[in-house]
Amino acid sequence: SSGLVVLTLAAAVLAGGTASAQKSLQEQAASLFKPIPEEPPQMESNPLTPEKVELGRMLYFDPRLSASQLISCQTCHNVGLAGADLQETSIGHGWQRGPRNAPTTYNSVFNVAQFWDGRAKDLAEQAKGPVQAAVEMNNTPERVVETLKSMPEYVERFGRAFPDQEDPVNFESMAMAIEAFEATLLTPGAPFDEYLQGDESALTETQKEGLQLFMDNGCASCHYGVNLGGMGYYPFGVVEAPGEDVRPADDPGRFEVTNTASDKYVFKSPTLRNVAITQPFFHSGKVWKLQDAVQIMGSSQLGYELDSTEAASITEFLESLTGNQPEIVHPVLPPSTEETPRPIA
Ligand code: HEM
Ligand code: HEM
Repeated sequence: SSGLVVLTLAAAVLAGGTASAQKSLQEQAASLFKPIPEEPPQMESNPLTPEKVELGRMLYFDPRLSASQLISCQTCHNVGLAGADLQETSIGHGWQRGPRNAPTTYNSVFNVAQFWDGRAKDLAEQAKGPVQAAVEMNNTPERVVETLKSMPEYVERFGRAFPDQEDPVNFESMAMAIEAFEATLLTPGAPFDEYLQGDESALTETQKEGLQLFMDNGCASCHYGVNLGGMGYYPFGVVEAPGEDVRPADDPGRFEVTNTASDKYVFKSPTLRNVAITQPFFHSGKVWKLQDAVQIMGSSQLGYELDSTEAASITEFLESLTGNQPEIVHPVLPPSTEETPRPIA
């Protein structure tokens, strides 16, 4: 019977061999990943119009959404820094340090849900969070609406962006406009996207080796799709719990959303788009070198110690995920009026 096992194994290996020989690296990749589109996706719940996107751009940059009138979305999701803030964890109202690293807003429209723990179902729901969070913008919906209504240009622009609404300046519309703008924050044209679209020479040999390792070792089982991530929730530490220096014990992740024991230390797998320029890494922001993050993933998620050559190739592959950064013009914002609430320290 052992002969049969060997034979069966040999047959399996042969079949596998021919299958992968028939399927080129590029075809394997194209079945798991998709390029970032040039154009924003159409959202059924929030159809994009130029008026809405433009209003959303203004709101994204307007620090008057914050109580201090100093902090905007741009503070922590800087459009000149790949939509992130280069901080271990973000600094918000009154110089308070929040508990988590700011994920990039770039390509975030493709994530299945928002935040590290997925507690917001989409970008519009998400946008209401930071405005009210005490450690971020520390404002109230009422005060934000009062602020926006105090400036005639905003009243007019909300009217044009939400023409069917009787009282268009409201907290919900603010969130919808910001979501519309965020849907345009895309980074197409990465070398990896050119490769997926048929340009064999878009990746270096090392990057191709890294791509193969990324798929063969199972990284792609959690980092797949257009964003190479953002599609599901997994324990950080499937096989081996990372040390407290990387995964602090006081942040149980999705457990706080679902109250389910199996969700302890469960987080959304983040997008790996532009990951080479959005350090530091992980929800804790404790790891600054991409290759270290790759190596930690190997041991924590796969129980596999990548050697330094393997980790270096995967890291080089991840560098091919840096796309064309959108050039966002800073909007000229309407001047405050006598009715505009004053900043609160
Ligand atoms: C998370 C957008 C303001 C820090 C997020 C996410 C988005 C976003 C889309 C989720 C991304 C993802 O899960 O992949 C915005 C918008 C803002 C804003 C539209 C303005 C209304 C801020 C500010 C700060 C900040 C002012 C810093 C003080 C963070 C942090 C997270 C986050 C730390 C992760 C929090 C968690 O997962 O629990 N933001 N953000 N954001 N943002 Fe913002
Ligand atoms: C985070 C790469 C395998 C789930 C990350 C990050 C990188 C990465 C670079 C940090 C991204 C950032 O902070 O912006 C890889 C590589 C893998 C791999 C190269 C293969 C060696 C996996 C697997 C899973 C997974 C198999 C699921 C079982 C996650 C999760 C996070 C993450 C949940 C967020 C952890 C946290 O900060 O709490 N991955 N990954 N990854 N990955 Fe992976």
